Amino acid sequence: MMTGKKLETDLLVIGSGIAGCSAALEAAKNGLKVIVITKNANPEESNTYHAQGGIVFLGQNDAPELLKEDIIETGGGINNPEAVEILAEHGKKLVNSILIKELKIPFARSSPEELDFAQEAGHSRRRILHVKDTTGKTIEERFIDALRKYSNVKFITNHTAVDLLTIPHHSKNPIAFYREPQCIGAYVLDNLSGKVKMIFSPYTILATGGCGGVYLYTSNPRSAIGDGYAMAYRAGARIINMEYIQFHPTSLFHRDADGFLISETIRGEGARLKTKDGKTFMDKYSSKKDLAPRDEVTRAIYEEIINTNSNYVYLDLASYATINIKKRFPYIYSTCLQYGIDITREPIPVVPAAHYCCGGVLVDKWGRTSIKGLYAAGEVSCTGVHGANRLASTSLLEGLVWGTRTAEHITSNYSSEKPYKESEIHEWYYPKNEESIDPALINHDWQSIRSTMWNYAGIIRTEKRLERARADLSYLLHRIEKFYKEAQMDPKIVGLKHAIQVALLITNAAISNPVSRGAHYIKNSPKK
Ligand code: SIN
Repeated sequence: MMTGKKLETDLLVIGSGIAGCSAALEAAKNGLKVIVITKNANPEESNTYHAQGGIVFLGQNDAPELLKEDIIETGGGINNPEAVEILAEHGKKLVNSILIKELKIPFARSSPEELDFAQEAGHSRRRILHVKDTTGKTIEERFIDALRKYSNVKFITNHTAVDLLTIPHHSKNPIAFYREPQCIGAYVLDNLSGKVKMIFSPYTILATGGCGGVYLYTSNPRSAIGDGYAMAYRAGARIINMEYIQFHPTSLFHRDADGFLISETIRGEGARLKTKDGKTFMDKYSSKKDLAPRDEVTRAIYEEIINTNSNYVYLDLASYATINIKKRFPYIYSTCLQYGIDITREPIPVVPAAHYCCGGVLVDKWGRTSIKGLYAAGEVSCTGVHGANRLASTSLLEGLVWGTRTAEHITSNYSSEKPYKESEIHEWYYPKNEESIDPALINHDWQSIRSTMWNYAGIIRTEKRLERARADLSYLLHRIEKFYKEAQMDPKIVGLKHAIQVALLITNAAISNPVSRGAHYIKNSPKK
């Protein structure tokens, strides 16, 4: 490895959630030198860490065939059959070998011999493994602990990926234009020093998670702003299905809770949605009632909120639970209690929130993008597993399966051959008179992006709303790019530049697709 402004590695992984960690683990076992970067101070901080529900396995009287049917029904039938097949056929094996045997994840058991299976919407069987309601946190912590034991894995925290390094784009050599475009690493900002480093690697895996943070209300951590989609887009990778943004029906409605998720497994244990005056309403919308697919439940809540002139609906577990609530949902119980709500006695006020991006950087069955040397895994990628709407608790599994597969592909095809000389690659260019950034401008631009996306490209879209979103966001893009060119490098300005691009990717995809399907709902859309 070089030092200072330039680093070199065999594999660069951007992001440290389940997809990035499983890729790093597989590559490390095969002897590759791996750098994992994260913009957070702590490598555990990721979307994975916050996942409550669980990970799909196979339950009793279950079979891969049944899981495939549920995935495709929820996904509106536009899922990639090859990817669904891989997930359903290989998922259980990897959960067994990596999560249960290697990482020893203490999944809940119904008896010492039997695993306990939770239920979520869209599943025809109880088949979700869970560690109470902190499944993601437990998986993430064990992965990081396991990776720390490998001397060939280096975590670099507090470093924000700014752009992918690609040739010919970043090459000074005019002859490079005749070569096949290739990703050779990334420009990475050291958040603390404000300096941009180059990390050279023949293989880069984007595992940056999703983009819920571009919406006003989201169940994602606020750092999930779509960095990977934006960088891949600027590098010229194919990106698809970005209109399919899944909204989770139930996040806690409280001024200070910032999108705290109330897991769907709560409805799996019998909880029912009610209006403010205590009437259940899901029977009106679906024969599956409160366990209808997420998009249907979300739109029903949206309607009821409007019809009852309210800001929220209630989710009532206390009146219906047959389990011990505190034991089964300790994290949700204690968090709600902090906000003055005792979920063992009273209903929980909830609203929908942006939750998961079903589209992303198009990848094949090995996680390869359309750019040589660039792979993607987890939420940032689009394998096609989810189609137009994701089946609950399939995301951790997809991250595990494709994280592992990308690294398998890289290690078995590894070549360190360099199609460039480092001296040929442009170092980061800092503007002559760097301006220090004005936080008021950054905050205002963020508010504009988030409220535009929520109001015009959110749960219920119309052609007019989307056109308005495109116009407002395009104007903002212009301003943010100018601001970026002149400003001192700072993670806040880098994040803003990523986010505006992602907001436009979602909006443009929604405009190009007039058909309502799954998570993309256009009022008065033509029939499918
Ligand atoms: C939840 O616990 O409701 C979220 C699970 C998921 O989104 O897969």
